[in-house]
Amino acid sequence: MSAPSGSRRGKRLAVAVGMHLFLVAWFATTGPLHSQQLGDTAAGKRLATEWCSACHLVGPEVRRGATDLAPPFVELANDASTTEFRLRAFLMTPHKRMPDFKLSREQSDDLIAYILSLRRP
Ligand code: HEC
Repeated sequence: MSAPSGSRRGKRLAVAVGMHLFLVAWFATTGPLHSQQLGDTAAGKRLATEWCSACHLVGPEVRRGATDLAPPFVELANDASTTEFRLRAFLMTPHKRMPDFKLSREQSDDLIAYILSLRRP
C-alpha cells in the first residue's frame, strides 16, 4: 500500500482540516469527560439494528448467535485487539462475506461509538 505521490500537501491539509472538524465536533457533542466517544451511540445503535442485525447480534446481551458466521458486537467490543482504528479500517474496506454499506464518515463514527460502548470495563 504505497501512498500516491501526487498531492501530498493537499492530503496533509485535508487531514489537518479533518482533524480539526473532528475535534470540534467531538468536544461539541460529548465534551472532554466522555473522551472515549467519537460518535453518537444512540444513532449507532439505530444503524446497527437496522443494517447489521441480520447477521450480527448487535445488543449488549452476551449469548451465542444462531450462527458463528458473524461475530456478536459485544464480543468484538470486548476483544482486546478491537480498536477504533481497526473497526474503521474494517468498515472502510469491502469484505467478501459482508455487504459494502458505503457508510458515511458520520455513520461509521456512530457505529464504532456504539460498538465500543458495549465494552465492559
Ligand atoms: C450479510 C451479513 C452481514 C451484515 C448485514 C453485516 N455483517 Fe459484519 N460481518 C459479517 C461476517 C460474516 C463477518 C465475519 C467476516 C470476516 O471475518 O470476514 C463480519 C464481521 C464484522 C466485523 C469484524 C471485524 C473484525 O475485526 O473481525 C465488524 C466490525 C462488522 N462485521 C461490522 C458490521 C457492521 C457495523 C454492520 C452493519 C453496518 C455489519 N457488520 C453488517 C456479516 C455481516
